[in-house]
Amino acid sequence: MKQVYIDTFGCQMNVADSDRMELLLFHSGYARTTHMEDADLILVNTCSIREKAEQKIFSLFGGIKHLKEANSDVVMGLTGCLAQQEGERLLKRIPFLDFILGPDHVEHIPQAVDRVLETQQPLTWNDFDKQKNYSIPEVSGQPQKATHPSAFVNIIKGCDKFCTFCVVPFTRGREKSREAEEIYAEVRTLVNQGAKEIILLGQNVNAYGKRGLETPVAFHELLYGIAEIPGVERLRFTTSYPGDVTPELLQAYADLDILVNHLHLPAQSGNNRILQVMRRGNTVEEYMALIETLKTQTPDIELSTDIIVGFPGETESEFEDTLKFMEQVGFSSSYMFCYSPRPNTPAAEFLDDVPEPVKKERLQRTIECQSRLTQIQGEKYLGKEVEVLIEGHATRKGTRFMKGRNPHYWQVHFSGDENGFGPGDRVKVRVEAVSGHTLRGQAVV
Ligand code: 5AD
Ligand code: SF4
Repeated sequence: MKQVYIDTFGCQMNVADSDRMELLLFHSGYARTTHMEDADLILVNTCSIREKAEQKIFSLFGGIKHLKEANSDVVMGLTGCLAQQEGERLLKRIPFLDFILGPDHVEHIPQAVDRVLETQQPLTWNDFDKQKNYSIPEVSGQPQKATHPSAFVNIIKGCDKFCTFCVVPFTRGREKSREAEEIYAEVRTLVNQGAKEIILLGQNVNAYGKRGLETPVAFHELLYGIAEIPGVERLRFTTSYPGDVTPELLQAYADLDILVNHLHLPAQSGNNRILQVMRRGNTVEEYMALIETLKTQTPDIELSTDIIVGFPGETESEFEDTLKFMEQVGFSSSYMFCYSPRPNTPAAEFLDDVPEPVKKERLQRTIECQSRLTQIQGEKYLGKEVEVLIEGHATRKGTRFMKGRNPHYWQVHFSGDENGFGPGDRVKVRVEAVSGHTLRGQAVV
């Protein structure tokens, strides 16, 4: 068998796309290798959400140029969001690339490789798939993979929201939902392969089903449907959009035991003027009202979020509103970013007037604020028992510690593996310490 090396940057959608490419290539005679030097085919699945992500990719290619120089038969492909955004222009910047494949063409990876081998010409394949339906054809005879207790399932791709800072609508195209029956079938397969937790994926999962499905199913109905599949022990989804949160979705948290009491709901800012120029479609008050309802119906709920600091025109006091907002909500964790202008986006036309050192200083203060909030949340667990879905041994070599996550998505490290626990088991752990977003303790047997 030939060998393929795949490097993946960015979000879980990209991880899922890389898995998909691996599977399709397996059927064309490629086995995945973790050694780039041994590969006949090198794929870099890219991200362009922020400038930093892009820089990393260009420096990676700088570092692998010698492999192509040493062996011109090695095929090199760049896939994912940067492929979509930059297309053919990438051939100027990385002249030894063999092909560029946008995220809408993940399904065509074997054909792209074949065509390059046949024609010996570089190929760019990044037009959008205009077909209304989003279907992932079943491929039989999957390669045997180590079963992970948590499995990702794509339910929707693209985004129609066009927040002014965000490149996703340009790299991933319009929102397209996948037929519910196809999703249920994939969940059943994953459960049969040993998955215990299903994580629904999409740039905007809770826009699921809004249009284009042959059999209309709303997002909350999909959750109830998955909850009926035997063997699904935990259900979560990421990432969601405040404007698409419905009362029925909030009710699902109260109704469904397997739906974990953790919601990742990107807020981006805690100031109404900034939210408006970001074109987020909601105010701080609307966000707070959602959360109040959720907390009333599901008191055990924890929230996490995404925050951007240093958006064009953001004043010191507008930034401080974000800190106050974070305190008010009491997020258990946040992904926090300095704003960077992205190609094609409306905000790229705005004056990027917050100086870089100010952005960095605001980011630092946001990180400190979140660390405090995480600590406060974490201390609530001290002396209590949490349920952990075991992923395996903690990373340190020779350690007797095991790791997993609780329903609220805290990493939990615990001792007690002498009891013969393994990945996929759910155990109770008594929490003795908290550091960052990690809880530490002992298994309760
Ligand atoms: N600059 C900084 N952060 C961004 N994000 C998206 N676009 C940008 C940008 N141009 C962040 C948002 C989003 C997360 C995935 O990445 O917070 O929710
Ligand atoms: Fe980007 Fe999310 Fe806004 Fe869509 S909703 S444009 S993915 S930030």
